[in-house]
This record gives sequence, structure tokens and C-alpha cells, in this order.
Amino acid sequence: LPLFRSVDERLERQLSPRAREALLQVSKSADALGLVAYLVGGAVRDLLLDRTSEDLDVVVEGRTGEAGVAVQLARRIAEEDITVRFEAFEKYQTASLSWPDGFVLDLATARTEFYPRPGANPEVESASIRLDLYRRDFTINALAICLNGPRAWQLIDFFGGAIDLSNRLVRVLHPNSFIEDPTRIFRAVRFALKLGFTIAPQTETFIVRSVSGGLHDLYGGERLRTELLYLLAAPFWLEALLCLDRLQALRCIHPQLHLDNRLRSGLEWLSGISLPLKVPAAQLRLERLLLAVGPEAAWKLPLDGAARQRIEKVRSLCPELPRWADRSAPALHRQLADWSPEAVLLLASLEEEPQREHLLLYLGLREQPRLLNGKDLKELGFKAGPTFRAILEAAFAAQLAGTLQTREEAIDWVRERYL
Ligand code: CTP
Repeated sequence: LPLFRSVDERLERQLSPRAREALLQVSKSADALGLVAYLVGGAVRDLLLDRTSEDLDVVVEGRTGEAGVAVQLARRIAEEDITVRFEAFEKYQTASLSWPDGFVLDLATARTEFYPRPGANPEVESASIRLDLYRRDFTINALAICLNGPRAWQLIDFFGGAIDLSNRLVRVLHPNSFIEDPTRIFRAVRFALKLGFTIAPQTETFIVRSVSGGLHDLYGGERLRTELLYLLAAPFWLEALLCLDRLQALRCIHPQLHLDNRLRSGLEWLSGISLPLKVPAAQLRLERLLLAVGPEAAWKLPLDGAARQRIEKVRSLCPELPRWADRSAPALHRQLADWSPEAVLLLASLEEEPQREHLLLYLGLREQPRLLNGKDLKELGFKAGPTFRAILEAAFAAQLAGTLQTREEAIDWVRERYL
């Protein structure tokens, strides 16, 4: 790793003047209060990797376990610079400072965490910086830069994070890391692929071991969904799923989930679709994954009502699909008229070629503007009512079949049939 560059030089070159000024304010105020502040987490990792980072997290160490020191320090900075907005979260012993130009700094009191049981929310107690860094996911994320006092502007590396950065390795700090927090399995894969790193072999073994016992089968929730969506939104989503599959970690989503050829082909097909959709690509990929396994998979991940309905709709129609002999657009429209494009795509992604393409073709045709609307019918002398709607639908079916191609043809067609 090019550690030949000193921390000062990196802060100087890679941080914006705005961020540097904020860190200097932290440094001065921490000195004045007799506290020690550290830049921690992703920002330090990115600085050492020659990347810029504007998402700065500061941890404040108090005198032997003193609580709320981050709030104290943030308050002090806000008192000295009245343009800064100060917000305290006393319960979490954290604070946030926002400058008028939109720059934000988050401060947290150094703390240690105990997991009462695997996957549970941790219980928290204020602690030294060493313990604060020890509770973190990977050595490369457990580095700090001291911002004041005798060690000011020095790199703090208790766990070999700098060596792992130079060897491009994602490594946990202790064997229980994935047992305590299974979302870290997804994070390991994300950091490895995002940074072009390898997951250390022993860390991979810890992943496989933590998953194989079925310990995480019942674990789910918001955090797991968020980390999974990060992976599915990344350009490397397929490599991420392949890696999770190799580590048998798709089991965290569902015990029977595997990336078989059918699932992979469905996901790749979905990703190649260029229709404008209301649902983000990552969310559709997640729903396709859930459709590959039993309905109980959706219990673990909090899904919104629309997603749940979409999945149920597709699931309920799925067994009937092989019996659909007529794949013409009007026939598909009779079944799917009230389906959103996203639901039709999910359904198509469960099929093979050429059936899939028929559904895609149907979607394209369905999105064309209608040749006839209610105003046209009124001008022809029809009164609003059930027949009115039926005529519009019949005309649209003829349009989907290709029988009607212009508005004039459509008007003549209605005249001949209904007047
Ligand atoms: N962290 C952790 N375990 C988790 C989530 C987060 O230990 N399950 C720690 C990591 O030390 C991480 C820090 O909390 O560095 C902040 O988390 P986050 O903002 O998610 O990650 P960053 O490292 O800042 O990465 P990114 O570049 O993706 O923002």
C-alpha cells in the first residue's frame, strides 16, 4: 500500500477544504474539552486507498467510559460557530453537525456492543476507541485517524487493517463476527467486489460455518433487506449472487435458495429490459429471487404492500402458464390487462424463450397510445356506461391484434359494429 504518503498529506490532498476545516474545528474543540476525537470507518479506508470521501464519521473517546461526550463536543463546536446546526440524539450518545453549505459531520461516542443473541440488536456501553473499533465488521473498516492530542494526525491500526488494505483483503476481526451480525456476510461480498478485494480464506470459512448451522434461517428484517438491495443495485450484482451462492450464503434469504440456471437466466433477462419502470431494478431482482422459493421467504424481509401483491399475483398465475396455448397479444391482454408492467416482467422472467418474448412484445404493444378514447366515442354519439367501456376495450384488443392501425380505421370499425 502506498503508505509512503503521510496521513497529513492525504487529508490535505484528498479531502475538500470544507471537510478539512470541519476536522480542524473538531480537533481544536476536542483539545479544549480534554477529549480525543478520531476519524473512523469508510472515510479512513477510502483515504488510504487514494479515494476521496466526504461521508465523515467521527468517534469521540471520553474519560474512562464517560457517556455523551460526542454530544458535548458537537455542542461546543456549534457554540463556537453559530452558522452550524447542531442536533443531538442523547439516547444513542450521537450528534450531527450541519453547515450552511450542506456539509454534514456525524459524531458518536466511542462504544462497545454486546449481542444478547445472534442477529439481535446489540446492547451498547461507552468505551475506549480500541473497543469501538473492535466491534466493527472488517479490519479495513476498523482503522482510525486521531484528530487531536499527542497522537494527532496519526493512523490508529490495532487490527492490521493497513496490511489488509495493501494485500487487498476483506477480513473479519474475530470468528463470531458473522454469527453476531449476518448482514456482514453481504457486506463482505459488497466490499470485496466494490474495491476489487478478495475475502480472506479464513473469513470465508467463518461465513460458511455461520450459515451452515441454519443459525440465520430465521433471521431477516430491515437491515438484511437493505444490505441485500445494496448488492442487487450494484453493477456487480450477478458476481455478488454467484459469490453468495458459492459460500452457501443465499441460505440467509431462504434455506432452499440456489442460483440455478433458471434463476440466473431469469435475472439476467430482467436486467436486459430497457422499459421505463416504476420499480428499481434491484427491487425487481429481489422479487425474482423470492419467486424462486416458497412464499415463506417473503416473511423474513419486510416488503411493501405493492411488492407483496406483485409476488403473490405472479405466484398464483405461475402454475397455469404452461396451459396458455394462445400467446397472441389480445389473449394475453385478457389475462393481464390489470397487471403492472413490473408484474408482467416478473412473470415473463419465470418462463423460457420464446414465451418470455411474447410477454415482452405484449407489454410493448400495450404501452402504445390507444387509437380511440372516450371523447371519440362521445363524438360518435355513445353515452358513458358499461357498453362504452366494453367498446373501448374491444377496439384496443383489435389494435393489439394489429387489425386496427389508425384512428380513422378505429372509428370506422366502431361505426360498422356498434351503430
Ligand atoms: N459497520 C459494522 N457492521 C455493520 C455495518 C457497519 O461494523 N453491519 C461499521 C463499519 O465499520 C463501517 C461503519 O460501521 O465502516 C459505517 O458503516 P457504513 O456507512 O455502512 O459503511 P462504510 O464503511 O462507511 O462504507 P460505504 O463506503 O459503503 O459508505
